[in-house]
Amino acid sequence: MMNAQDIRNKYLKFMEAQGHVVIPRALVVPQNDPSTLFTGSGMQPLIPYLLGEKHQNGTRLVDSQTCLRAQDIDEVGDNRHTTFFEMLGNWSLGDYFKKEQLRWFFEFLVGEVGLDPERLYVTCCSGFPEFNVPKDEESAELWTDLFKEQGVDAKKIDIGSEENGYQVGEQGGRIFFYDKKNWWNRGTAGPGTTAIGDPCGPDSEVFYLFDQPHDTKWGPKCHPNCDCGRFMEIGNSVFMEYLRTDKGFEKLPAKNVDFGGGLERIAAAQINSSDVFKISILWPIIEALEKLSGKNYDSHTESMRVIADHLRAATFLAVDGITPSNKEQGYVMRRLVRRAIRKAFDLGIEQNFLEEIVPVITNLYKDDYPEVDAGVQKVVEVLAREEKVFRQTLRSGQKLLERMHKDEKALTGIDLFRLYDTYGYPKELALEEAQILGMKTHSIENLMMVFDQEMQKQREMSQTAAKGTFKGGLGGQTEMHKKYHTATHLMYQALRQVLGDHVVQNGSNITEERLRFDFSHPEKVTPEQIAEVEKIVNEQIGKDLKVSFAEYPTKVAREEMGALGQFGDRYGETVKVYKMIADGAEKPFSFEICGGPHVDHTLQLYEDGKKFKIIKEEASSAGIRRIKAVLV
Ligand code: ALA
Repeated sequence: MMNAQDIRNKYLKFMEAQGHVVIPRALVVPQNDPSTLFTGSGMQPLIPYLLGEKHQNGTRLVDSQTCLRAQDIDEVGDNRHTTFFEMLGNWSLGDYFKKEQLRWFFEFLVGEVGLDPERLYVTCCSGFPEFNVPKDEESAELWTDLFKEQGVDAKKIDIGSEENGYQVGEQGGRIFFYDKKNWWNRGTAGPGTTAIGDPCGPDSEVFYLFDQPHDTKWGPKCHPNCDCGRFMEIGNSVFMEYLRTDKGFEKLPAKNVDFGGGLERIAAAQINSSDVFKISILWPIIEALEKLSGKNYDSHTESMRVIADHLRAATFLAVDGITPSNKEQGYVMRRLVRRAIRKAFDLGIEQNFLEEIVPVITNLYKDDYPEVDAGVQKVVEVLAREEKVFRQTLRSGQKLLERMHKDEKALTGIDLFRLYDTYGYPKELALEEAQILGMKTHSIENLMMVFDQEMQKQREMSQTAAKGTFKGGLGGQTEMHKKYHTATHLMYQALRQVLGDHVVQNGSNITEERLRFDFSHPEKVTPEQIAEVEKIVNEQIGKDLKVSFAEYPTKVAREEMGALGQFGDRYGETVKVYKMIADGAEKPFSFEICGGPHVDHTLQLYEDGKKFKIIKEEASSAGIRRIKAVLV
């Protein structure tokens, strides 16, 4: 049996035998390329070399690059799309060209992977006279010979545009000419859209044919670039000899080859399964989900695919050092994890399950990627923490949506914003949920427009507001006041850890006898949760956190450093932020915008042998809870 791992290794070895040096994968998050959030193809980290810079390992390189295409997130669920995948890649930096490249890839597929040449179909570039790019007859001739060697007669067919493909169909062809479909550059399609400064060129793709009928939903006739899934693209050889300039296309200093082959897809072809989730680096995740849920893949296909894909992607992001957040890569990671958890509800998995599933995923990679092996514990921790926080958020948002649905209220952009702002409930999830519930909603355009307007309003409010709001709630400044003030910060952070990050301060009042704290949370805090909050606060006090403050630009404090604030508060240009951090710790336990004053060290709260204790939890108003706590 050959599995996906074997295919990866065979490819690296095969190309090594052709004089290539194996280079390590680049991180999923690009290190020196601010133009993009993720590494989306094998060539991305090699752009400088494709443009002419010398590579330390010479002119023939090979690797398997872990890639993430976040833009495909909504496609996941069908039989072949994944956000995360591995791209087998080899490059000629001004070394070999079409003849060697097409032969090696074909030999690899037929000789090494054992694919039936009768099931392979190829495409070449029909050219762009307006850009002086000729029809790629040379590649077509090379393919004709390669197929002939295997005893396959290869008929050539001119297709032109993808749209035309659906009209004219395959016509018994083996080698097809397309226009834009056979031009490659980063991100977009067709020479008209290539970004200035990018290397690019015509390409030649290989497709695998499955035994299944054409689905006319996509168009009257099937052809290699049809989306019905009967043909699956498994590899692409780009003949990168052009540079897009402001005037048009120039020849690069050297003719390069940039090859990319989808490991998952080649592995699927190898087992002749049009469903990529059946391969050895995905199927064990599905099996674990079946076991955990007691449900079958056949009856819960889409949900299981989404969960498997998203968690595999999030696992690699965690391996590469990303943590869930509300910004950039962290935001995409958060969205992947949260979407997977939401989908698990469809399987009846409502309890924490990432601690069980993530090790199944790391197991599939740890032998081939030592960094995965080394990172298992950290990865599980990061993902399990996000799961805990999100479950609570989810329950809160869901409840609100269900209530609105029951009251026959249509979902508006303002609702979407409130869900997001108060509960941290992602707008994409809210929309999906509304659809599942069958809720009435405003049009998507209107929802998005109003959401953005509300977001803008909030930003403006925070910019125009005055300082001095922080004195509110601080009646006096005695030693006891200071202690309760510090305890309030610790409790705020502990509440968020236990209940979720939808918890936002709504008000606070401190006397010499107690603290009182109002916050957003849709249901009663259970006795267990209260005990947990008390435990965390007392633990932190016991660590004798050092309390200090500094001023920061508001935007930096809130958006980059994630400082906590109070719901609806308006901040000036800069804010004072209090930090409570244990000796030697990397990150503060609490980081909160506040005017003070506080004690200097948390152990001061324990003077006279006191402990922190919550004495009352009650509703304050709709969706707002009130807690009273003391040091006794
Ligand atoms: N860079 C080419 C692709 O991603 C090989 O298809």
